[in-house]
Order: sequence, then structure tokens, then C-alpha cells
Amino acid sequence: MKALITAGGKGTRLRPLTHTQNKHLLPIANKPILHYALEKMAHAGITEVGIITNQEGEEVKSAIGTGEQWGLHIVYIPQEAPLGLAHVVKISQDFIGDDPFIFYLGDNMVVGDLKKFIDVFEKDGSNCHLTLSKVKDPERFGVPELRNNRIISIEEKPQNPKSEFAVTGIYLYDSTIFKAVNSIKPSARGELEISDAHQYLLDNGYKISYSEITGWWKDTGKPEDVLEANRLILEHMEAYQKGMIDAASNVTGNVVVEEGANIINSVVRGPVVIGKNTIIENSFIGPFTSIGHNCTIRNSEVEFSIVLDRGEILDVGVRIEGSLLGTSARIVSSIGRPRSNRFVVGDQSLIEIR
Ligand code: TTP
Repeated sequence: MKALITAGGKGTRLRPLTHTQNKHLLPIANKPILHYALEKMAHAGITEVGIITNQEGEEVKSAIGTGEQWGLHIVYIPQEAPLGLAHVVKISQDFIGDDPFIFYLGDNMVVGDLKKFIDVFEKDGSNCHLTLSKVKDPERFGVPELRNNRIISIEEKPQNPKSEFAVTGIYLYDSTIFKAVNSIKPSARGELEISDAHQYLLDNGYKISYSEITGWWKDTGKPEDVLEANRLILEHMEAYQKGMIDAASNVTGNVVVEEGANIINSVVRGPVVIGKNTIIENSFIGPFTSIGHNCTIRNSEVEFSIVLDRGEILDVGVRIEGSLLGTSARIVSSIGRPRSNRFVVGDQSLIEIR
């Protein structure tokens, strides 16, 4: 069994963060999203992994490397343009060969291991095994129509979904999927749709089975999804404290304080992770917050947020909540007159003020 993981695409919904960083490298609890996928592959006993990259693939390559640290052998497969998930499969045929494989969207996060899906797929002898998850907004996803515990059709982003399930970004295939991706035509939006490949398999008498993911599953395409994934990961993380916490500080709950971090006269209420060499002074860090490395937070309050490396929040008089701060982003209090708000905001940024 091989694995194919996506790390390409455009990441438009996560702009402006994705102007300067591939979304699969954004940290969740201070670890790149893509690491979680690679850990899962290693845990499932897979060693041969292909990673799909876009034009800026070098960034992913240098961040992930050969895969040695997970005991994986990683091959990078460039996609010339984001032409769809079925296109991703199509261009990976040489790497996959005749092996069965797991196709995993690198921006998806799921609790639990993948082995159980692989086992069901291997046992039931189907050509394709899909993982489904109940969602509130199926119209955003590929949606299966089910009858007598069988998938009878699949539609991509339907206006009137035929079930409350989304097809998640974890798929298992044998090599018949290549017949499908080589036969289908681009959709109205110009992509080779994976749902059309699945529909091709159904129409041509191939067997598609499925499992339901009953724990949490998240597609981290939008800022609110990234924050939610961060919350879920922090809830399950193991606490340790290697940095300094002074006697005037109060650190409660599940809190990671990485090496060199300094917590001075502050309240930290977990689950929270504080990165290396970060300074938290006279501040409150509330639950479900990840603060990156080399950040400074002084005289401020932050909750349910992610602050990337080298971020600064200084003397801010209102609590910052539900926020994502990019690398080296700064929120500081202005001094002097006139009393006004001053912004230097990058393209496609969002600021909500009250
Ligand atoms: P999407 O989240 O559907 O697309 P995107 O990453 O381009 O983001 P946005 O919609 O915000 O612009 O992609 C799901 C996953 O598949 C993600 O890991 C990116 C990857 N992908 C590719 O690698 N190649 C592609 O052609 C497409 C469509 C997606």
C-alpha cells in the first residue's frame, strides 16, 4: 500500500496567510498540518509516500525533506496547475503503478488511525473505499446518495444534497481508479473532479464501499476550520513545560511551554501551547490558543487564536479572540494624538473592529 498526499492547490480561502506560505505548512498546535498526515501514514505502516506540490513546491520540499524522520520514503510530484483532485491521481500513475493506495488530502485532519480503513478496504475487496462524515453543510463537499448501505451516486457540491454525508479527503483505491481519471472530462469549473471519477466507477460496475468517520474530521480550508482543528488537537495534546514560569504566574489546565519560553506575571488557561523563546508578560492566554516561536505578548489578552512565529501583541486593550496572526504580524497599541486606529494591512487581510 502506497500513499498519495496533496500539498498543492491554491489555498485562496486562507489568504492572506497563503500569499507567503503553503497552507499545508501552517501550524496547528505549533506543528505543520502536513506533519499530522505523515505521522498517520507511518503509523499505518505505509512507507512509500508521494506528495503533490504546486508551483511553490520547493517550500514544501525543504520543510518536509526525505521523510526519514517518520521512517518514510517521500517522492515529490509536481502538478503544473490545480486542475482537480482526479488530475492529481492521474499524474501520479507512474509513482503508484499497480499498488493499492490511500489518497489523502493534506489539509484534512482526522482523529484516530487510518489502519482500520485500510483493513476494511483490503478485506471487502472493493475497488474504492470512501470515508464519509456527517456534516452540517454537505453542499460544500462531494455528497453520496446511499441506499441499503450502498453508495448509489456521488455528486460534487450539489445544490440539493441527497444525504447529510460529505465524502472526506481520505480515499482508498486499487488501480481501476486510473481508468476512471483517464476517462472523465473536466467539469464546468475546469477541474477533473474526483466525484466524477467515483461516479465513473459506479456507472461501470466497479465496487465502492465506505466507512463512516464517527470521531472528528476537519477540512482546514478556511480560517475558522483551522482554529477549530487547533482546538481539537490542543484538547488531545499531552502537556509538558520546559520553559520558565515565574511565581507570579498562574498556569492551569493542559499547557505546553516550550524550551526558552518565559511566562511572567501572566495567567495561562489551557489547553494552550506556547512556542520556543516566546515571552508572555502581564497577559492572559485563554483556552485553545497556540502561540508560535519567538513571539512577544505583553499587557494583552488572547484566546481561541493562533499566533504564528515572531508575532507581537503589545499593550492591546481589548481581548483578541478567534484570530489568526501570520508570521511576524504585529498588533500594538498606538500612542500619541490623535487617538486613532492605524493599519498596515496586506492584500486580502481581514480586520474586525468593535
Ligand atoms: P481545496 O481545499 O479544494 O482547494 P485549495 O487548496 O486550492 O483551496 P481554496 O479552495 O481555498 O483555493 O483542495 C483540497 C486539497 O487538495 C488541498 O490539499 C489542496 C489539494 N489540491 C491539489 O493538490 N491539487 C488540485 O488540483 C486541487 C484542486 C487541490
